[in-house]
Amino acid sequence: MKTIIYNIGTLAGILPADVKRLEGSQMNDVKCIENAYLVIEDGIIAEYGSWDGCKNDPCRILTDTPSPCGQGGSTVFTTAPTAVNAEFIDAQGGFVMPAFCDSHTHIVYAGCRDGEFRDKIAGLSYEEIAARGGGILNSADLLHATSEDELYEQSMVRVREIMAMGTGAVEIKSGYGLTVEDELKMLRVIRRIKETAPITVRANFLGAHAVGRAYKGRQSEYVDLVCNEMLPRVAAEGLADFVDVFCDAGFFTVEDTEKILSKAAEYGITPKIHANELEVSGGVQVGVKYNALSVDHLEMTTDAEIEALRGSVTMPTMLPGCSFFLGIPFGRAKDYIEAGLPVALASDYNPGSSPSGNMRFVMALGCIRMRLTPEQSFNACTINTAYAMGVSDQLGSITVGKKANLIITKPLPSLAFIPYSHQTPIIEKVILNGTDIA
Ligand code: NIG
Ligand code: FE
Repeated sequence: MKTIIYNIGTLAGILPADVKRLEGSQMNDVKCIENAYLVIEDGIIAEYGSWDGCKNDPCRILTDTPSPCGQGGSTVFTTAPTAVNAEFIDAQGGFVMPAFCDSHTHIVYAGCRDGEFRDKIAGLSYEEIAARGGGILNSADLLHATSEDELYEQSMVRVREIMAMGTGAVEIKSGYGLTVEDELKMLRVIRRIKETAPITVRANFLGAHAVGRAYKGRQSEYVDLVCNEMLPRVAAEGLADFVDVFCDAGFFTVEDTEKILSKAAEYGITPKIHANELEVSGGVQVGVKYNALSVDHLEMTTDAEIEALRGSVTMPTMLPGCSFFLGIPFGRAKDYIEAGLPVALASDYNPGSSPSGNMRFVMALGCIRMRLTPEQSFNACTINTAYAMGVSDQLGSITVGKKANLIITKPLPSLAFIPYSHQTPIIEKVILNGTDIA
């Protein structure tokens, strides 16, 4: 099946196939073609280019043999062309860009935590809410009382929500189970989403998100449960692409983290770490030591973390929606980029610290609160998040051979308009695996 998108005002986010992430000054540019076309074949980007280049033979891209489409010499179709064996999408002069990749979410959860929102407004901190038995444990209680089918249905509402906002790939964590059975329940729901939704999904086992209620005061025993009972089951059922630990004040220590990561390494499961949200935790260094694909949050960073990340495979990932919602510092993204490092920006969509999966808002916060340029922020939300969830060989840019996960916008004055006018509804179509999801 062939689909041709034509009348593209700006085709944005073009990268060569060998680029898996962008770092330092490489993040400053977004390669674009004005007045472009793009061909999709069987869900994959097959070809793209300047429509001007087809001036003398506008039918060339439509069929392998010349076809009388009657538009010879024009640079833009005025009416939908006709040709055999192809479907046409008129981009009407809008942008076509890669769909967002959201490399850090917790969108499988039950109910919500709107009551804690009131506590937060009244002045309680994230740690204070957690210490009173709210927070993650509150979500674990709700999840325990929710059937697997119901959890799937509730989560699919959020999956549909983020797809409509232009997200084409999402990493989803467990971590609201905190018992063997409930962690497996969450991971099975994530697997079901992977199997049923057009969005690309990666599953992350976050058994060490908080100490389960039954283990209160027995943290090391809970870590043993994660290592010796949860991980073997998760690995046996092939339920996780990644393993994660919340390595932070009041949650898990560097020693706990090492224990879990070395056990996960026995099963060949790659780590991604929650680090430095609440304090400088040592989580970045332990993540780098175990070749984590990413270390995430980083609201609290000293220069030592920047040094630790140099030369590593680990993607520093910041979550500005969490900083915004909790009123905590924004990560030092600019300093990381100036140090020559890559930076990714993800939503952290979850019921406690970031109840939004809007990647355009994330991109806007990257610009407005972290002083990234629109180009840096665009790259941080596309190719670099694709890397941070292990899919940058298939997603995150306009590249021949990658999955056709695309956003088509209304005509826009510039790339900067995307984060600048971040509440304006600019998305016309979201195409996943070459198909319009509408
Ligand atoms: O990434 N920080 C730890 N985990 C989530 C919050 C989870 C929750 O509060 O439900 C986060 O912010
Ligand atoms: Fe998180």
